[in-house]
Amino acid sequence: MLGIIQFISISCGIVLSFFPDEYDRAAHNWLPSVDSASADTKHWPTDVSRDIIPVGCHSHNDYWRRVPLYSALQAGCVGVEADVWLFDDELYVGHTTSSLTPRRTLRSMYVDPLVAILERQNPITDFQPGANSPAHGVFDTDPGQSLLLLIDFKTAGPETWYAVSKHLGPLRDRGYLTHFNGEELIQGPITVIGTGNTPFNLVTANTTYRDIFFDAPLDRLVDEDPDQSAYTQQNLEMVSRDTNTQSTNLGQGQSGMPAVITANTFNSTNSFYASVSFQKAIGFPWPFHFTQHQMALIRRHVRVAHRQGLKVRYWALPSWPRSLRNHIWRVLAQEGVDVLNVDDLVGATKGDWNTEVFDWWP
Ligand SMILES: *[C@@H]1O[C@H](CO)[C@@H](O)[C@H](O)[C@H]1NC(C)=O
Ligand SMILES: *[C@@H]1O[C@H](CO)[C@@H](O)[C@H](O)[C@H]1NC(C)=O
Repeated sequence: MLGIIQFISISCGIVLSFFPDEYDRAAHNWLPSVDSASADTKHWPTDVSRDIIPVGCHSHNDYWRRVPLYSALQAGCVGVEADVWLFDDELYVGHTTSSLTPRRTLRSMYVDPLVAILERQNPITDFQPGANSPAHGVFDTDPGQSLLLLIDFKTAGPETWYAVSKHLGPLRDRGYLTHFNGEELIQGPITVIGTGNTPFNLVTANTTYRDIFFDAPLDRLVDEDPDQSAYTQQNLEMVSRDTNTQSTNLGQGQSGMPAVITANTFNSTNSFYASVSFQKAIGFPWPFHFTQHQMALIRRHVRVAHRQGLKVRYWALPSWPRSLRNHIWRVLAQEGVDVLNVDDLVGATKGDWNTEVFDWWP
């Protein structure tokens, strides 16, 4: 749908964590060009990303970078992720409530900078009086590549939904968002995916226009194969458990679910990723090998998600020891998993990464 996201994982997050200065220095290249309103004699109108080749990586907890967003773009990451918290109609970006500050908002850190970058990428000049159609993306070397903006709703789903949708207005109004128009998917330079408490019922409420796509629960996708009835039963039990819970923090792929999930509930008209915690759904491969049961589960995940046009993403992968991590990455790549997130970088062994991390860059 949006071009192939190569297997990759791992976050530019990891790379950027270990080489922060280099990338942050590079990121400064973006800042002045974004600030200057128009092209001048020293710069081509669109040279903001001239030397950058996009790679299939995802900048996890992107806002931890000293220069969020720009560091990831400079590294060529096609995906960035922001955790958002709703307080008094403002969406603050941060990992926990204690890390929030008034100036770090979805608008100031992502929406406004992206509008500025995209306006520069789609200049109206004497030679090109009309706007590009479709609009060019953030990467000059691959203008058709959409930037994946994963927004993790940390506060209650419905309220946060309306605020996120409203705050995306400047991108929507300029036609920059990938959207579903009731019949087909229209690709734009930015594709927004809601995860965390994003409510599925609100994603699908409007049947003629959608521009926030769901992060479907990979372990709850239903197989068309009737042999899976035992699995469906388990599914229904999970639904009833969810509807009983009073908590507003349900986590990825659990909010606003229909009473019954069928084989066709999640597809590319409403979802982009299908994700699950690797630790929870597959478990630790021990002793250093996946069991047959684990392999069958992984294959089933990839098959049902790809059949529905969704990208498979695992998060909460073990990151240590390194040999185990590499084995897991290799197996998952072979099996067709699209994106891997490694969480808890701080807890992972330190220093161990430097030498091999670039093996994973295409
Ligand atoms: C769906 O969204 C479009 C675009 O925002 C809007 O014009 C339309 O009224 C919405 N439809 C419903 C049923 O809310
Ligand atoms: C996508 O899923 C919705 C239910 O969420 C379903 O009504 C629709 O028919 C599906 N579309 C396709 C093309 O499969």
